[in-house]
Amino acid sequence: MCGIVGYVGNRLATPIVLNGLKRLEYRGYDSAGIATIHAGKIDLRRDVGKLRNLQNLVESQPLSGTIGVGHTRWATHGEPSTRNAHPHLGGTGEVVVVQNGIVENYLELKEELIAEGIGFRSDTDTEVIVHLIERFYVADVSLEQAVRQALKLLRGSNAVVALSSREPGKLVTARLGNAGGVAIGIGQEEMFLASDMPAILDHTRRMVFLESGWLAVLTAQGYTLQTLSGQAVRAQEHQIAWDPVSAEKGEYKHFMQKEIHEQVRSLTDTIGGRLDQESGAVMLPSLNLTAEIAQNIDRIIITGCGTAAHAGMVGKILIENMARIPVEVAIASEFRYAEPIVTPNTVVIAISQSGETADTLAAMDEAKKRGARLWSVVNVIGSAAMRIADGYIAMLSGPEIGVASTKAFTAPLADLYLLAMLLGQLRGTLTAEQSRYFAIELAQVPFKVGQILEREKSVEQVAKALKEISHCLYLGRGVNMPIAYEGALKLKEISYIHAEGYPAGEMKHGPIALVDRQMPVIAIVPQDLWYEKMLSQLEQAKARGGAVVAVVTDGDERVPQIADYALWIPACAWQVSPILASIPLQLLSYHVAVLRGCDVDQPRNLAKSVTVE
Ligand code: AGP
Repeated sequence: MCGIVGYVGNRLATPIVLNGLKRLEYRGYDSAGIATIHAGKIDLRRDVGKLRNLQNLVESQPLSGTIGVGHTRWATHGEPSTRNAHPHLGGTGEVVVVQNGIVENYLELKEELIAEGIGFRSDTDTEVIVHLIERFYVADVSLEQAVRQALKLLRGSNAVVALSSREPGKLVTARLGNAGGVAIGIGQEEMFLASDMPAILDHTRRMVFLESGWLAVLTAQGYTLQTLSGQAVRAQEHQIAWDPVSAEKGEYKHFMQKEIHEQVRSLTDTIGGRLDQESGAVMLPSLNLTAEIAQNIDRIIITGCGTAAHAGMVGKILIENMARIPVEVAIASEFRYAEPIVTPNTVVIAISQSGETADTLAAMDEAKKRGARLWSVVNVIGSAAMRIADGYIAMLSGPEIGVASTKAFTAPLADLYLLAMLLGQLRGTLTAEQSRYFAIELAQVPFKVGQILEREKSVEQVAKALKEISHCLYLGRGVNMPIAYEGALKLKEISYIHAEGYPAGEMKHGPIALVDRQMPVIAIVPQDLWYEKMLSQLEQAKARGGAVVAVVTDGDERVPQIADYALWIPACAWQVSPILASIPLQLLSYHVAVLRGCDVDQPRNLAKSVTVE
């Protein structure tokens, strides 16, 4: 979704802002723009399409100034075009604004402003913000006061940044609701802001994060925070450990490929330090979980969107298996409107890589409002989903740049496995022997993932056989049913092949009608509780002429007799098999998409953080 980068200091703002926007390209966008203030005037460049177009424009028409703001736009109101690209200048030419989010009441505000004689130059909702700020920005009023007044009139969720040539050393930013975060980076005699930390990590690791209903004023000397009613507030400063180099592609062709390969490390980091392999004891201190809390939990609801929701579905089975607590999975965009029934002993767990997904944050707000205990599983430290929860588990994946989640899918699987173990230990549903067994199985996962990654070439061969298909059915059962959903999602988002994930047992109740020579079936068939049932479903697909690709346990002799292609994984406990089975499916989607010439890291229409509803 939209990306924002701002700078104020003593250096030229343009290269800092453009480099920051470059780091946010992965979020998805269709146009870009930048504004600086120089010699008391606002200077603006905008262009449609890739950031390269804006960079070319800036090269031919350079921008000076040591204060600036840039934006990559993901169209919500008005087509992708130069006139709709941000920043938007007000009628006086004195104020410029960028926004991330949606102004829900923009039509009524626009009508009001038009009635006042204001002319509009774009179709965006954002333009109303700059005109409203100008309405209040009369003599003796500061920019922050005018922004506060204007924001009081908006409905919706927004992150806004405003600059004024009347106060040329000042960046004002404010946040309403959950439409994207604002990270404020603290430098030496310079300040940065960004919708996502990677944009400014090159310059500083010291960050504070804007809460909803807060406004910040940034100058070269520092920052102040206040609420939208003008009361001073303080925020905790975070030291961010992420390394900017880890957000580079390195030797890999795409971020997605790099991130698939990083899973040996990300899983090692996620598991190590939290698990005593000898005793099987689990440590998750940031969750603030005591034996008393664990014993009193009456129900768990896991919420999230897309890939995160699929991780939650695996988590449900693991927690019910190890801790014997009933678990539901609720899609976040539905949960918020479902009038959820929770008690103070209900735990709501939100899973979110970015920690900024608007639907997930809204679900968290709803859960909190209704009195549930709130935990989150997040990758981005300092994100809203981490801050508003009563406790959290970090994914420890490092920055994930590819829009299609890979390492930020397997890390929460490991986190939820650890959580299931911990709950089982605190509730007495796991014996010491079972704890040790589960600990050993999990500890072996990174090594086994490494073994699977070494087989990438053979997965690429299978991808060659599938690259021309138009439809595909993914089947799984039990703990691997969500992996069928996730495999299908991964294929469709980056290769644009229509793919459906299905519980294998449901195939005969409808989807089997689709199976023919043109409809391959990809089945997850490890040697687990559901193995025999999966075999008969494979036979049924094969009998209809569909090509069968199967995820199979090393040494299995039965599945290869039915399947046309095998994707091998090492033997493991069924509880860890979703992590292992995900790896060849990620590689398969990746190679199919590359062979089809798709933009793997930035697939069309998609955004990395979905910060609007
Ligand atoms: C994953 O490949 C997708 N891009 C998408 O489904 C994603 O998982 C979803 O938007 C949730 O994102 P989050 O984890 O940042 O909340």
